[in-house]
Amino acid sequence: MDSQSNPAGRVDVAGIGVNAADRILLLPEFPHTGGKMEIREAQQQLGGQVATAIIACQSWGLRTRYAGKVGADAIGEAHAQAFQRAQVEAHLLRVPNCRSQSSVTLVDQRTGERTILWERDARLAIRAAELKRRWVSTARALLVDGHDAAAAACAAKWARQCGIPVVADVDSIYPGVKELLEVTDYLIAAEEFPCRFTGKRNIQEALQVIVRRFGCRLAGATMGARGALAFTGSRWLHSAAYKVKAVDTTGAGDIFHAAFVYGLLRGWPVERTLDFSNAAAALNCTAVGARGHIAGLKEIERFMANGPRCLRPPQGTKGRKRSKPASEPRGTQAR
Ligand SMILES: Nc1ncnc2c1ncn2[C@@H]1O[C@H](COP(=O)(O)OP(=O)(O)O)[C@@H](O)[C@H]1O
Ligand SMILES: [Mg+2]
Repeated sequence: MDSQSNPAGRVDVAGIGVNAADRILLLPEFPHTGGKMEIREAQQQLGGQVATAIIACQSWGLRTRYAGKVGADAIGEAHAQAFQRAQVEAHLLRVPNCRSQSSVTLVDQRTGERTILWERDARLAIRAAELKRRWVSTARALLVDGHDAAAAACAAKWARQCGIPVVADVDSIYPGVKELLEVTDYLIAAEEFPCRFTGKRNIQEALQVIVRRFGCRLAGATMGARGALAFTGSRWLHSAAYKVKAVDTTGAGDIFHAAFVYGLLRGWPVERTLDFSNAAAALNCTAVGARGHIAGLKEIERFMANGPRCLRPPQGTKGRKRSKPASEPRGTQAR
């Protein structure tokens, strides 16, 4: 099951976290309670936060390693094959008599915005005891998500001890997430996380609290078509999203994180890394699926040079009002 093309070797990035299979349903609009709706198109695709990010990193020429759990089913096999094809060094822990994580993803075709309904057998949770220290210690960066926060924190501690930067993709308040943040260098959270986690109403205040409390080098959030906001402890950075015809936003955050890791490993200034991440994520939104359009480096660079930016949130995408920061970010700028 494992594709250990480089078992004892060094890699650029190790990713530990979730994989999934998405059944993506393209719908003319979001369904109403009690209504009926024809599915315009259905697709089955592989996804999962860290699994997808690692596939993207590998496609950009990084040497990568992935560790995660799958069931003993066709989905688990499909993941193994996808990693093998991509030449990712994959350590797939297979749980007998168990189904792999899967989701049904509803895409509103008017905006491309997706809504995920997911299921995950409790036995798919990764335990710290199942991880090998060398998976982390022989990498130049570690990417984790928050789903199995205790295992992620264990891996992140190993990374810390080796001076390896830890990037965390956290979208919800999972048990043990505090312990993970204590050993996280770069937190790029989902938009709702910072306020929910800190109890603050304003995302800027929330990110400040996180940086002060946990000593992260950077804490930020992705905000869909409003791009990304980040705080380094001394500087605010806002990178506007790139304007695309969004067909399906599934996996946007995964590709953003992959690109962030890429920029980090290239030693780019954080402004450039955030622009690159927004561009890669936007391009991925132009096709269906979490891995729908992982653009090549040249295409991303071209798009960064010429692609229009969204200075205002388009109607209908994450239309929730947020409190306005002290000075509203416009375009890409360090503040
Ligand atoms: N409709 C969109 N148009 C352009 N870029 C988008 C769009 N939706 C998402 N993105 C890009 O993807 C990134 C991650 O998207 P977001 O929705 O915040 O994460 P998630 O995938 O976790 O829901 C954003 O910061 C932005 O760069
Ligand atoms: Mg989104």
